[in-house]
Amino acid sequence: MTKLAINVDHVATIRQARGISEPDPVSAAAICELAGASGIVIHLREDRRHIQDRDVFLLRQTIKTKLNLEMGANKEIVKIALNVKPDLITLVPEKRQELTTEGGLDVLSQKKKIAKVIEKMTAASIPVSIFADPDPDQLTAAYDVGATFVELHTGKYCDVIGENNRQHEFQLLQEAAEAAAQMGLRVCAGHGLNYQNTVPIAAIDTIEELSIGHAIIARAVFVGLDQAVREMLALIRQADSTM
Ligand code: PXP
Repeated sequence: MTKLAINVDHVATIRQARGISEPDPVSAAAICELAGASGIVIHLREDRRHIQDRDVFLLRQTIKTKLNLEMGANKEIVKIALNVKPDLITLVPEKRQELTTEGGLDVLSQKKKIAKVIEKMTAASIPVSIFADPDPDQLTAAYDVGATFVELHTGKYCDVIGENNRQHEFQLLQEAAEAAAQMGLRVCAGHGLNYQNTVPIAAIDTIEELSIGHAIIARAVFVGLDQAVREMLALIRQADSTM
């Protein structure tokens, strides 16, 4: 079955809005795991706008599934990752002004820098995923620098207006997933996925895991986190049964 990793940054965003200790992403992660999530994703941003260092260290101790640390290729964060030893890191581009990650990492233009980070992670036995647009050149670059996984950026597919455009973006993702798998990369996908648009992506058989945050936490406000996770898992299960 396609796995579901849940990004709990959005729980930390609510906490930080008040500057107090709740809601706690550590508690959220436990509920997600109990509801059937296969992993927990957190993004430790340079500006610490949501996830804090304390969350990273506590989640490392409490998570029973897999901790995926999203991060920019930044010296300070690399040091923290090497210390915490997540089960996986995902390299993403990071801009201070953005509301959320806006696109895939441009590996092509910074192969040396990314290769160096991957070398350090590999030496510490931490597999690396690269958040990538469905662009064959970027996928080849990700393979060349030694990534184990790519996470295909589904944002454009999710945001595009019009069925033909959506179909075009879907096709790009489908081809990219196939090309990446052919190269020997393991393939994940995420960004912008919700209860309306996830099924076709989950049905792509080369994609082994989806990373979903906002839609699940948003639904949790109304139905509770346990149910929100279970409803997404049911959709993924439905997609798998059509494969
Ligand atoms: N994957 C990556 C690399 C991301 O940066 C994010 C957003 O934090 C997600 C997946 C999850 O996106 P969303 O919150 O839109 O589900």
